[in-house]
Amino acid sequence: MLRIDVLTLFPRMLDGFLAESILGKGIAAQHLAVSVHDLRAWSTDKHRTADDRPFGGGAGMVLKPEPVFAAIEQLQSPGCCRIYLTPDGTPLSPTLAHDFSKQQHLIFLSGHYEGIDQRIRDGVIDQEVSIGDYVLTNGTLAAAVVIDALARFIPGVLGEEKSLTHESFTNKLLDFPQYTRPAEFRGMSVPEILLSGNHAEIEKWRHARQVEKTRLVRPDLLK
Ligand code: ADE
Repeated sequence: MLRIDVLTLFPRMLDGFLAESILGKGIAAQHLAVSVHDLRAWSTDKHRTADDRPFGGGAGMVLKPEPVFAAIEQLQSPGCCRIYLTPDGTPLSPTLAHDFSKQQHLIFLSGHYEGIDQRIRDGVIDQEVSIGDYVLTNGTLAAAVVIDALARFIPGVLGEEKSLTHESFTNKLLDFPQYTRPAEFRGMSVPEILLSGNHAEIEKWRHARQVEKTRLVRPDLLK
């Protein structure tokens, strides 16, 4: 079973995320185990300080090395992967999420948006990951995004294995449109072909919609 530890200054941000939906079921079924830790538990002063002002000046606060080193050194296991969430990291991709899902033990470190002491990156981080070219207030939601994306690749987490293969990005095309009942809703009807029962024609139609949508929204994927 994949073990995941998350280190954050805002542990409660993940409460709902871990309890709900497919991820909650995956955890209940012991396909993965996720523990969320408050970094302040490893701070040593009476104010439970985990951050401080940057040397050299500048706005904001920087995560201090001592509590992070202590936390990671306590939690790490041989061969585990220690990941720091940051906008200047390697962009998350389906391949990276799939690679993470094959690991035994992952530790996610969520920092302040202003940054963390460089010695943390140099000393106790193996990989830096970004979830996109925008800046969040802290990396906790980014950790949640990576965990969600990798959990889908763990066998058993998605009920139907098949649902993995037909989705956006597995074949570098965006999804086709989906419809469910009713066949007619407020004057909008479901495309005739989907009601025909002709599976070969439906596959052809879906593929054509995928190419059309990809060309419109993400032409870069077709290159
Ligand atoms: N922390 C703040 N912004 C982030 C981003 N885009 N990706 C990963 N971690 C972050």
